[in-house]
Amino acid sequence: MKILVTGGAGFIGSHTVVELLNAGFEPVIIDNFSNSNRSALAGLRQILNHDVPFYEADCNDAEALNAIFEKENFRGVIHFAAHKAVGESVAKPLMYYRNNLDSTLLLLETMQRYGVPNLVFSSSCTVYGQPEHLPVTEETPRLPAQSPYGNTKAICEDIIRDTVKAGGPVKSIALRYFNPMGAHPSGLIGELPLGVPGNLVPFITQTAAGIREKLTVHGGDYDTVDGTCIRDYIHVVDLAKAHVQALRLLDSREETSYYDVFNVGTGNGQTVLELIQTFEKVNNIKLNYSIGPRRPGDVEKIYAQVDKVNNVMGWRAEKTLAEGLQDAWRWEQNLQLKNSIVSE
Ligand code: UD1
Repeated sequence: MKILVTGGAGFIGSHTVVELLNAGFEPVIIDNFSNSNRSALAGLRQILNHDVPFYEADCNDAEALNAIFEKENFRGVIHFAAHKAVGESVAKPLMYYRNNLDSTLLLLETMQRYGVPNLVFSSSCTVYGQPEHLPVTEETPRLPAQSPYGNTKAICEDIIRDTVKAGGPVKSIALRYFNPMGAHPSGLIGELPLGVPGNLVPFITQTAAGIREKLTVHGGDYDTVDGTCIRDYIHVVDLAKAHVQALRLLDSREETSYYDVFNVGTGNGQTVLELIQTFEKVNNIKLNYSIGPRRPGDVEKIYAQVDKVNNVMGWRAEKTLAEGLQDAWRWEQNLQLKNSIVSE
């Protein structure tokens, strides 16, 4: 069963390629390397002992997409490819709307043209904003997005929902990720942020590696147990497996049009300080950090209710926060080793 993985060289995409192959699917990657690196393909080759079919192309290139769909007989698409930096999206909204909306529209049109039935869409818990009640369920109302990036996720969900409502024919699941972290336990693929990382875990591993002098904890006066924000950190390998389950569910549905949304998290909330302490403990490292001011746009606390994904999709998070932080650190150390060999 051939599955097109857009953004398959990226962080979540590359881990999903591994899990698709483990589950007997045939992933085909399309990536333009706008926010990923060719080294991910080398990492995949090492893990899998063979090359994964790959096209270097942009998901906004209609001709390229047509040619690929013409050649391959896809059973489904997992759409990861998107711009995803919150701050950049505030500065360059048109770039975000153009890229993230166009690619989703074009994929849906191309899927319809070639009769490809199944779409898994990469959405985010950012669509909930700061919910009134925790944990958040899929019934929790979405709030107006805090950033153009967040808005593209909400709009793409709506585009897919409306397409399905109109009779598709397409079956689709939007997965609302909480905070992905960690790396493949082999240490061969992981997160590769361009420039200064905005996300917490890569900032921690880069600080531990000495690339960043100090981690600033954004705010210590929130209404939480230790004053720092709460998030639901989900191991990227678990998250990758949720995509496999989503595809299985889509393929098992007999109707031709179907749409649903699922939270993908652990169901547990962790504060920033708890995460730092766990990192220090499991990796036996002292981290240089201090508490700074709040980051504008941050929500105080959010974590998932995962009953729906557990019960309907038969998926649950298996890996612990400690494993994720060990894997992320192993990956960072391997990266530094590779970089030092290259520069010698
Ligand atoms: C962010 C995005 C979210 C996106 C997700 C992708 C915002 C407001 N949200 O989520 O839309 O889907 O990334 O992964 O940007 N922190 C520090 N110091 C740092 C970095 C982060 O204290 O140097 C804290 C943050 O304040 C937050 C937590 O760590 O409390 C997690 O931050 P981050 O990894 O950036 O994820 P989110 O903000 O939850």
